[in-house]
Amino acid sequence: MTERNPNPQPKIGKAERLKALLARDPGVLSCPVCGGALLFARETSALRCARGHSYDLAKKGYANLQGRGGDAKSVYSRALFESRRAVFGFGFYEEAARAITGIAKKHLRPSEAPIRSESAGAHRVLDAGCGEGYYAFMLSRDAQLRDACRFYGLDLSRDAVAMATDYDADIAWIVADLAKPPFRDGAFDLILNALSPAGYGAFRRILAPNGVLIKVLPGRDYLRELRALLGERGRGESEAAAHCAKHMRIAERANIRYRCALQAEQKKALPAMTPLTAGKNLDPSALDSLHCLTIDLEIVAGRPF
Ligand SMILES: C[S@@+](CC[C@H](N)C(=O)[O-])C[C@H]1O[C@@H](n2cnc3c(N)ncnc32)[C@H](O)[C@@H]1O
Repeated sequence: MTERNPNPQPKIGKAERLKALLARDPGVLSCPVCGGALLFARETSALRCARGHSYDLAKKGYANLQGRGGDAKSVYSRALFESRRAVFGFGFYEEAARAITGIAKKHLRPSEAPIRSESAGAHRVLDAGCGEGYYAFMLSRDAQLRDACRFYGLDLSRDAVAMATDYDADIAWIVADLAKPPFRDGAFDLILNALSPAGYGAFRRILAPNGVLIKVLPGRDYLRELRALLGERGRGESEAAAHCAKHMRIAERANIRYRCALQAEQKKALPAMTPLTAGKNLDPSALDSLHCLTIDLEIVAGRPF
């Protein structure tokens, strides 16, 4: 069982925490309508640009910069995020999160960052396509990264981002489209994009000159047992790396592959955790026959072209 569980009672309220995070990092957000700097105004508790475009903060502690279209309808349903949260709670992705954190630290070198202060100097980290927030949370739990970085999580799904605010962490959660991220040019030192669509051009724009993108893709055997139940085969071995090489100058590549034993009660959470199963019926007795689940991820770090 993982130790990561969201703390349902953060020390300060979620909305207050978000306000504090936004107020200490002015000028990072840009207006999705006009592109101007979006600043947090304490008097109105809203984000506002010089042209008067204004965005209220959600009471749940996130900023919706996507408007009403903020939900990724398609395959990314609330049930998917609930299921992913359950699976993260089983600890199945802890090893993967540790590997991602290690690579992030290698490229960010947090030990060389200035001591954290309310002034400029901290690195900024964005989890683009953060879903219910697990990886951003795990990065923010690393003591060195926590001291050196300011964390942002972005996703198109309001359901996912609302769930992400359950994590007891100093992460500013934003509903927005990662293809049009509402951040100023060069704002981030590191972008994580895990098992989510990429927006390479947009990532390049918001990365600092020496910034790093960490892309996490399914490896050949990712969830192979579930795929087998669906009659699917794994991806080609070099597909993930070849895909990344088309879009970024690769600095490091790692493969992380392990199997997790499944308890009977854990199996129920599996089908909904991945868009692979969307619209498909899994025979419950077939699910019963699963005894383990393979996690096989390609982690690629580099700079988008
Ligand atoms: C398979 S989930 C992965 C989420 C998370 N990284 C994780 O591993 O749990 C894919 C995520 O991409 C998000 N997504 C899809 N298109 C997006 C877009 N254009 N902008 C932002 N997020 C998007 C979905 O809402 C979903 O949360």
